Amino acid sequence: MEQEPEQDRRVNGKIHYLDFSQKKDFSQAENGSKNSALTTVKKEVFSTKPSIPVYFIRPDSIKRAAHFFLKNFQSSKNKSDVLYSVKSNPDVAVLRYLFDSGIRHFDVASMAEINLIKGLFGDEAKMYFMHPVKSRESIFEAYYNQGIRDFSLDSFDELKKILEVTGNARDLGLHVRLAIPNSHSAIDLSRKFGILPSKAVALVRKVRAAAKNFGICFHVGSQCMDPSQYRTALMITKDVIEKAKVKLDVLDIGGGFPSSYPGMTPPNLQSYFDEIFDSISQLKLDSDCRIWCEPGRALVAEAGSLLVRVEGRKNNMLFLNDGTYGGLFDAGVPNFIYPTKCFRIRGKAALSNNTASFGFYGPTCDSLDVMKGPFQLPENISEGDYIEIGQLGAYSRSIRTEFNGFDKNLQIEVSDEPLVSMYLENEEQSETEVIAA
Ligand SMILES: Cc1ncc(COP(=O)(O)O)c(C=O)c1O
Repeated sequence: MEQEPEQDRRVNGKIHYLDFSQKKDFSQAENGSKNSALTTVKKEVFSTKPSIPVYFIRPDSIKRAAHFFLKNFQSSKNKSDVLYSVKSNPDVAVLRYLFDSGIRHFDVASMAEINLIKGLFGDEAKMYFMHPVKSRESIFEAYYNQGIRDFSLDSFDELKKILEVTGNARDLGLHVRLAIPNSHSAIDLSRKFGILPSKAVALVRKVRAAAKNFGICFHVGSQCMDPSQYRTALMITKDVIEKAKVKLDVLDIGGGFPSSYPGMTPPNLQSYFDEIFDSISQLKLDSDCRIWCEPGRALVAEAGSLLVRVEGRKNNMLFLNDGTYGGLFDAGVPNFIYPTKCFRIRGKAALSNNTASFGFYGPTCDSLDVMKGPFQLPENISEGDYIEIGQLGAYSRSIRTEFNGFDKNLQIEVSDEPLVSMYLENEEQSETEVIAA
């Protein structure tokens, strides 16, 4: 059937929300990734008028972040490795761009992540099972069938479990996770995992005796806003290893490196590395001790954005076609606020340059599906307008659910720069931008 040209629709004044199958061949792409020649966000919004949420992924941003970490996470004395934390975004295209940029080490937490990395990169990728509480089946599978030797743990019980499952293997890398203060981070990860430093000495000694490679690891909490938090963690580590009188083969300073969000503009990433390596110099490590980091957010957040559509407005609450059960989990209880760009494609007055504060409702019937923001958006934003929400390359696509049937989404690779960047300097970066047809 002949398709109606786009222009005619506008001339006729009809309202059409295009079905993807009519407009372009996205048949392979629902919930998948479309690797087209790179387009731009604006082109895609205006040409496809998507009715489902769309992720825009920026390959150049991923490469830039990976190169930055590989080049700068370096100490003059000890060798270092950058482990990508797969949970932050396990999308195949994202993983391939990271691998092509030189990332060869992967922090994995489940069998699904292990199988994914193995399937994509085979033995060229090295994996580390850094979940402190694992099932016996996954330890068995990881050790015997996937060749994984490195495991984190935070208790005597987990040590016993790992040793029982691996038959007291003598080739293990065992990493004790310390619970250290997460007070300068948006998401606290020390309440659930880690052994209190005051109780760690006995475990450290026992693990040292059982391990071929012994490590200490910690996580300062995700989106850590203060580099000195790593110094605090490293001084606690120093204290523990001095009290335990053990030699360290690996010092893993975890993830936590930030991205930039409205109201959360962190210091630059180099200042984190400077603080970390300066603190490490006080630990008097042997020169063969390796230093690891496990970034997730900082490698991929700014590379991804999510385009959502406004389906309705009640006062200053916008009903969107995505929400906390979809790609906006962190806008819910963690109350993250994101940079935005708005697009109006329907023939009504232009979007206003004056902004107002808005909250969002997601599309599900659950009243918990609410994001209070405040998000600064054009004061006349209304049904049919689009919002591109930035910094959603991490902890978004991977945590979507099928709840209430709102799981459909699409991913498109684009050449745009991120809405806000930790890696682009001296750029004018607007956190709220309005684009009209
Ligand atoms: C063990 C571990 N390593 C690394 C990360 C990545 O953290 P981030 O995304 O804050 O860098 C996480 C996040 O939950 C984690 O649990």
